[in-house]
Amino acid sequence: MYAAKNEARPRRPMTLSRLREMKQAGEKITMLTAYDASFAALLDEAGVDVLLIGDSLGMVIQGHDTTLPVSVDDVVYHTRAVANGTHHALLIADMPFMSYATPTQALASAARLMQEGGAHMVKLEGGAVQVETVQYLTERGVPVCAHLGLLPQSVHKLGGYKVQGREEHVARALREDALALEQAGADLVVIECVPSALAAEISASVEMPVIGIGAGTDCDGQVLVVYDMLGLTPGKRPKFSKDFLAGKGDVRAAIADYVEQVRAGTFPGPEHGFA
Ligand code: KIV
Repeated sequence: MYAAKNEARPRRPMTLSRLREMKQAGEKITMLTAYDASFAALLDEAGVDVLLIGDSLGMVIQGHDTTLPVSVDDVVYHTRAVANGTHHALLIADMPFMSYATPTQALASAARLMQEGGAHMVKLEGGAVQVETVQYLTERGVPVCAHLGLLPQSVHKLGGYKVQGREEHVARALREDALALEQAGADLVVIECVPSALAAEISASVEMPVIGIGAGTDCDGQVLVVYDMLGLTPGKRPKFSKDFLAGKGDVRAAIADYVEQVRAGTFPGPEHGFA
């Protein structure tokens, strides 16, 4: 049973300013996805800094092939559940596909995720095209985490789940997008499946923390889908992931190991990144 909300809270809630301080101090940020109160409580207790209620829930919870069918209602439901199990971690809720096609639609979706779900921040996918929306949201008090590189909501446009940024013109666009999104008010960015050297360069070029997934060893923090890092996702594990449960047989020990390895800089290793 997950810990009730009114039990003792020894640690202070995570904040965006603390995440920024961690980047400045070179302390790695730990992030994992969460979709329900019981897992959220375990992750929170283990000291995971940020929990992402990812639209990956469409794949790992609902069994779809992509994240596209996920609705705002779905993310609100799972965010509420995670919020009910959490005392400390910062909660980021994903904005589903087509829930932020215009700035005003984005504001309405974000308001639901924060007011009904209890999210502290919302995440949206895309670069230059999202600058206006990021500015619109942040000027109205909605903290935004951007998402660059492999954009799972654009899987059909991209032609599959492929590494992004190997061609110089794409790499240049990613560098410029990160700066433009930060200038528009984004406080955090997830970079997914890009060459490790490019992710390192982007991390060094912006003040907001950069959270990598398949983005090498030199980002400011690391995120994985929790079912991937417990080896529960059927099929082949992505190169950038690791089964932290293997050989332990204890979910708490697996999560503690993830936190320790990310903080120590031993996960991800060079073998989890892309050239
Ligand atoms: O939806 C999700 O879980 C994500 C992570 C893969 C970063 O966006």
